[in-house]
Amino acid sequence: MTYLWIKAFHLIAVVTWFAAIFYLPRLFVYHAMAEDEAGRERFKTMERKLYRGIMNPSAVVAIALGLALLWLNPGWLTQGWMHAKLALVVLLVGYHLWCGALLRRFRDDANSHGHVWYRIFNEAPVLLLVAIVILAVVKPF
Ligand code: HEM
Repeated sequence: MTYLWIKAFHLIAVVTWFAAIFYLPRLFVYHAMAEDEAGRERFKTMERKLYRGIMNPSAVVAIALGLALLWLNPGWLTQGWMHAKLALVVLLVGYHLWCGALLRRFRDDANSHGHVWYRIFNEAPVLLLVAIVILAVVKPF
C-alpha cells in the first residue's frame, strides 16, 4: 500500500520534471532568437524560475521517491532493466545539469549557440523518456 502511494508520487514528480525538461530548452530556442533587451531579460527570469522552482525540486523528489521504492523492494536491484534505467537516469541528471550551465551562460549574456542547436538539444530528453518508461513498465530483461 505504502509502496503504491510512493510510486504514484514518484510518477507525479517524473511528469513535472519532464514538463520542465521539455520547456526550458524551448525557452532557450526563443531566447537565442530574441533581438531586444527587454525580451532577453524576460526570458532570463522565466528560465530561472522554471529551473529553480520546478525542475530542481521535481528532480529531487522523483529521485528520492525512486530510491525509497528501491529501499522497500531491494530485489529490483538484481534486475537488468533497473541497471539500464539507473544508467539512463544518470544521463538524464547530466542533461539537467547541462541545462543549468546553459541557463547561466544566457544569464551572463554569454550564450554561444544558435536556435537550431537548441532545437536539436531539445530532442535528446525525448529519447531518454521513451527508453526509461519502456524499461520501467515492460521490464524487458
Ligand atoms: C534515481 C532515479 C530513479 C529510481 C531509483 C527509480 C526507481 C523506481 C522503482 C524502484 C520503481 C518501482 C518499479 C515497480 O514497482 O514496478 C519505479 C517505477 C517507475 N519509474 Fe522510476 N526511478 C527513478 C527515476 C525515474 C525516471 C526519471 C522515470 C521516467 C523517465 C521513471 C519512471 C518510472 C515509471 C514509469 C515507473 C512505473 C513502473 C510500473 O509501475 O510499471 N523513474 N522507479
